[in-house]
Amino acid sequence: MDLNRRPRRLRSSQNIRELVRETNLSAADFVKPLFVVNGENIREEISSMPDNYHLSLDQLQKEVERLLDLGIKAIILFGLPKYKDAEGSSAWQQNGIVQKAVRRLKKEFPELLIITDLCLCQYTDHGHCGILEDGKIKNDATLSRLAKIALSHAEAGADMIAPSDMMDGRVAKIRQTLDENGFKEIGIMAYSAKYHSSFYGPFRDAAHSAPGQGDRSSYQMDAANSDEALREIELDVKEGADIIMVKPALSYLDIIQKASDNFNLPLAAYNVSGEYAMVKAAAEKGWIDEKSVALEILTSIKRAGADIIITYWADSAVQWLNE
Ligand code: PBG
Repeated sequence: MDLNRRPRRLRSSQNIRELVRETNLSAADFVKPLFVVNGENIREEISSMPDNYHLSLDQLQKEVERLLDLGIKAIILFGLPKYKDAEGSSAWQQNGIVQKAVRRLKKEFPELLIITDLCLCQYTDHGHCGILEDGKIKNDATLSRLAKIALSHAEAGADMIAPSDMMDGRVAKIRQTLDENGFKEIGIMAYSAKYHSSFYGPFRDAAHSAPGQGDRSSYQMDAANSDEALREIELDVKEGADIIMVKPALSYLDIIQKASDNFNLPLAAYNVSGEYAMVKAAAEKGWIDEKSVALEILTSIKRAGADIIITYWADSAVQWLNE
């Protein structure tokens, strides 16, 4: 054959493949989600998310030490509070679980980048991400609560606040509240295009945050929509978000790509609990190889345009990449 283009030339050895590789993963890409609980000496594996744990403060500290040793420098914290009520008031207590965790981690590891997830669903007795009145979510009444939580996280020493509630106007309200209280340097990583997804199932078990009645479809986005994601992101950018996010990641690679093409802010993608659990379960059955599938998924998320990947595989991935 007289072919002048032979693409296989660039695939003929490991060295040439590495030389022309367009997407490379590294520890600096990852944010590891961690779940902190009250109590002591607790390190309880989350059954639907193997290798991820409910951690009391002492164990959280050990876990963070391990992550830092691996080269993972950023975490996102989720708290399981002592009590829940209609308003979610345990979310903004000075001595709430997240606030305590942030204070301790900042003291022990000043270099650690601490992002706090900001939402009401783990803290409300009805399990919704907003204030509920007559079965309806009250958007504007929710904003002042979210701002209060953001402020309490900032006061504890968080570096960045990540609102995951999907209420309208929350980024503006949080930005304004942080600024008025002297926290101009604290960033906002906005869950901008957060879909109403069934891939959050294992997380809701882990965070005890499933809604008691109804679902989240009046605030999280319809999986069928794509233009809407751009509108949501545009609003968050205008309201002052420093980092935008698409969530989930794997079924939304087209959205990640659009977000990356259309906005020049750092873009995070959340590789969510269900995406993780599916692979874990199939690997346990021996049907797929966890390591190669997970690295393929993470690579595709980055290839689609994500600059930052929030993933339960953060630590495993770094270990695999170092092998
Ligand atoms: C809280 C929140 C959720 C997740 C992150 N923050 C659950 C939800 O919105 O129901 C999901 C994370 C995951 O599934 O890994 N609002």
